[in-house]
Amino acid sequence: MQTVSLPVISKELRERFQRARDVLVLTGAGVSAESGVPTFRGGGQSTVWKGMPFDVISSAGMVQRDLTAVWEWFDYRRGLLSDLKPNAAHLEIARWQSAFPQCNVVTQNVDGLHQAAGGRDVIELHGSIWRAACVNCRATYEIEKAKPRPDLCVSCGERLRPDVVLFGEMLPSGAFELAAAKASECELCFIVGTSGLVYPAAGLAEIAKDGGAFVCEVNPERTPLSELCDEVLTGKSGEILPLFAKI
Ligand code: APR
Repeated sequence: MQTVSLPVISKELRERFQRARDVLVLTGAGVSAESGVPTFRGGGQSTVWKGMPFDVISSAGMVQRDLTAVWEWFDYRRGLLSDLKPNAAHLEIARWQSAFPQCNVVTQNVDGLHQAAGGRDVIELHGSIWRAACVNCRATYEIEKAKPRPDLCVSCGERLRPDVVLFGEMLPSGAFELAAAKASECELCFIVGTSGLVYPAAGLAEIAKDGGAFVCEVNPERTPLSELCDEVLTGKSGEILPLFAKI
């Protein structure tokens, strides 16, 4: 049986974790990888759908050109997600929200697994695959498992689109500003499972650092954010984050 050698958490990080009162966790696709959610990048690969790079099918331009194709992609992703469960990393992060006086979870993920793990007030920077929004009046609608997806807006009759931030689009108003305010105040910041390539989300690590936080990255690979981190724990978040339950 292959034993996974887990990184050692430094004495400094253990002490800071024990006495922290305000923690921020920024997550990306990697935190859901062990639940079976494919990441977009990592391992030198990036996702392709029906011959189209994911950042083409997931773009504002594609909504204009072919909304049906965009829905096909998101219906496929939602189908992949519907039976998946949160993993040990999601559960540990949810535990932190009751362990620390302040623990804010900011995610780039649209999969809803933080909430499924018991996470509360999760700041979804990129929206949610479990919602649809009107292309005209922006009214939003929940998409329920095993129920037909709504496709027309009840209030204005226009078509609905995935309520997910697509390439070339702004983040939902207020979400980034709220996350940035929390990041600038936190004393301990974890960057978990993100390639750190997509802004403004990746900028939260810099905001936390500039605010005086101790920044720790958890990722099997180095990222452009590794340089600014005070500590880098190399490995899978589902194996590393539960180590903090013993601190
Ligand atoms: N634990 C922790 N990290 C992991 C794991 C794991 N088990 N498996 C993979 N990773 C890391 C990869 O090494 C990579 O650095 O997760 C990262 C995933 O990177 P991306 O696929 O680029 O995901 P993310 O950073 O969330 O992408 C940002 O880009 O595609 C858009 O809107 C989409 O929100 C997404 C944004």
